[in-house]
Amino acid sequence: MRVFIDCDPGIDDALALAYLTADPDVELVGVGTVFGNNSVDVTTDNALRLLELYGRPEVPVARGAERPLVQEPSLAESVHGANGLGDVELPAPAGSPVAESAAELLVRLARENPGEIDLLAVGPLTNVALALALEPRLPSLLGKVVVMGGAVQEPGNVTPWAEANTSNDPEAAERVFAAGFDLDLVALDVTMKTVAPGEWLDELKTLPGERAGKTAAFLDFYYGWYSSVFGVRQSAMHDPLAAGILLDRSLVTRSVDRPIMVELKGEYTRGLTIADLRPFSSAEGAERPPATLVQEVDGDAFLKRMMDALR
Ligand code: BDR
Ligand code: CA
Repeated sequence: MRVFIDCDPGIDDALALAYLTADPDVELVGVGTVFGNNSVDVTTDNALRLLELYGRPEVPVARGAERPLVQEPSLAESVHGANGLGDVELPAPAGSPVAESAAELLVRLARENPGEIDLLAVGPLTNVALALALEPRLPSLLGKVVVMGGAVQEPGNVTPWAEANTSNDPEAAERVFAAGFDLDLVALDVTMKTVAPGEWLDELKTLPGERAGKTAAFLDFYYGWYSSVFGVRQSAMHDPLAAGILLDRSLVTRSVDRPIMVELKGEYTRGLTIADLRPFSSAEGAERPPATLVQEVDGDAFLKRMMDALR
């Protein structure tokens, strides 16, 4: 399968890259970067460094949006460290980003390979919204789209209602969810329940090699943040779970197809993701095309595969 990842690395973005690059059946065709966990300069540099760490330096990296479509950007240095990777230093990359923007690269690859490329979007959806503006046929040119973002039946993680990727660019998310992609939404609803306990990280630390060793060091920082906020040594697996679901849909044990909307105006609820989950509602006849909201996953199988990917 051919995959384009749009990301803001970011510690859990790094895990998603580790997961994708470990699978011999995945051809990683491009990496788009976006502001989010850090500035786009830093996330782009991190993407280049991570591709070297994970043995795929030839994959093109395209720098994307430095700010949201409408609002001012806000970054997440407390969660991911000042350098976006838990303050772990990776060697400076030999390569540099391609000349095209992330949106331009995604559109070109989709036009050249209609229906063949799947998109994994694990940062703010700004680049995908910009790509849609360049190419309104994008939903029919891409294969599957898996998005990590939103919080439908769980609390948010940036505001009481809004998850970081959606909150970082609500207008972009709203455009993407309205566009008619064949889209799976991997929201906090499942990522906050797919939690790697401290023992999982301890096992990772016993694995040989840079791939596992550096990733464990990023995660030490991430676990520290989670421990300070939740009082438990564990970590949610946001972006790598989305990667896992793209690669193996059988990890999803319950889902529902509904139109998904993003609140843009609420005084307290801007960035909230909404799906009509009333028992009598259905996707049929709705005003916008449905997306698939993932509601339950096989977390144990996923955590085992994540460990194998780092082995
Ligand atoms: C999402 O926000 C970012 O901080 C993470 O990388 C993940 O994509 C979780 O809300
Ligand atoms: Ca991310």
